[in-house]
Amino acid sequence: MTHSTAALLEMNDIAKVFYTDEVETHALAGVHFHIQRGEFVSITGPSGCGKSTLLSILGLLDTPTAGEYRLAGVPVQDIGAAERARIRNKEIGFIFQAFNLIGDLSVYENVELPLTYREGMSKAERKERTLASLERVGMAHRLKHYPAQLSGGQQQRVAVARALVGQPSLLLADEPTGNLDSKNGEAVMGLLDELHKAGSTICMVTHDPRYADFAQRKVFMFDGRVVDEDTLHRLRHEEDQRLDAQIRMARAAAP
Ligand SMILES: Nc1ncnc2c1ncn2[C@@H]1O[C@H](COP(=O)(O)OP(=O)(O)OP(=O)(O)O)[C@@H](O)[C@H]1O
Ligand SMILES: [Mg+2]
Repeated sequence: MTHSTAALLEMNDIAKVFYTDEVETHALAGVHFHIQRGEFVSITGPSGCGKSTLLSILGLLDTPTAGEYRLAGVPVQDIGAAERARIRNKEIGFIFQAFNLIGDLSVYENVELPLTYREGMSKAERKERTLASLERVGMAHRLKHYPAQLSGGQQQRVAVARALVGQPSLLLADEPTGNLDSKNGEAVMGLLDELHKAGSTICMVTHDPRYADFAQRKVFMFDGRVVDEDTLHRLRHEEDQRLDAQIRMARAAAP
């Protein structure tokens, strides 16, 4: 890799507005964000601040309303759905809170699935990659099981194998431990940590400060913006002051 220190992705002034029943929701309001190759970044922030929306746009599942997004140097904010799907399949691996495995496919079939959309990949290569990926997460002994026959921790390990199988440039994880008890949560975090040490680039949303500590760099979201820790404290302080002022005014106005 010649450009190992170049930004893998870069967002400038990204906005996302949802329009529903005449209500406008500004889910992202001017996001500036970048991730270098090989970085492990965590995103933390209150419910509704835009974390999943950001991850969907990072992962090309959704498009921004405005702003610029470059993935590996290529502007991708305006490309069409088919091209988005193609890049996503090659470059991005997703891990979700609810595992999102397909119930009527076996463990093997779930992990193989992303590769079946690749043009020109032989069945033998698919098999080799699928088995290697399942071995990596310690689930190669459950190939014929169905998701419902696995524990939550096992399902998430299979989901990690599915995210890895295409050898993506970027792993995106949205609350990957959110549905797991602490033992399984730690096991999944251990796995992400190993992947990072082996060179994977990871961006993970988490509510749990213990898990955010696995990341090299922690960013925070607040009202649709990505901020560093100092800015977060300042914004929180300003909001507290606003609320205090409102309460004082309400008290003063009360009969
Ligand atoms: N498809 C949609 N249509 C309309 N509004 C949406 C949609 N998706 C998200 N929103 C709104 O955008 C805002 C951000 O949502 P998002 O899911 O990104 O939050 P989040 O930070 O992931 O929250 P949580 O921690 O609860 O998962 C919320 O106000 C939400 O209601
Ligand atoms: Mg979310």
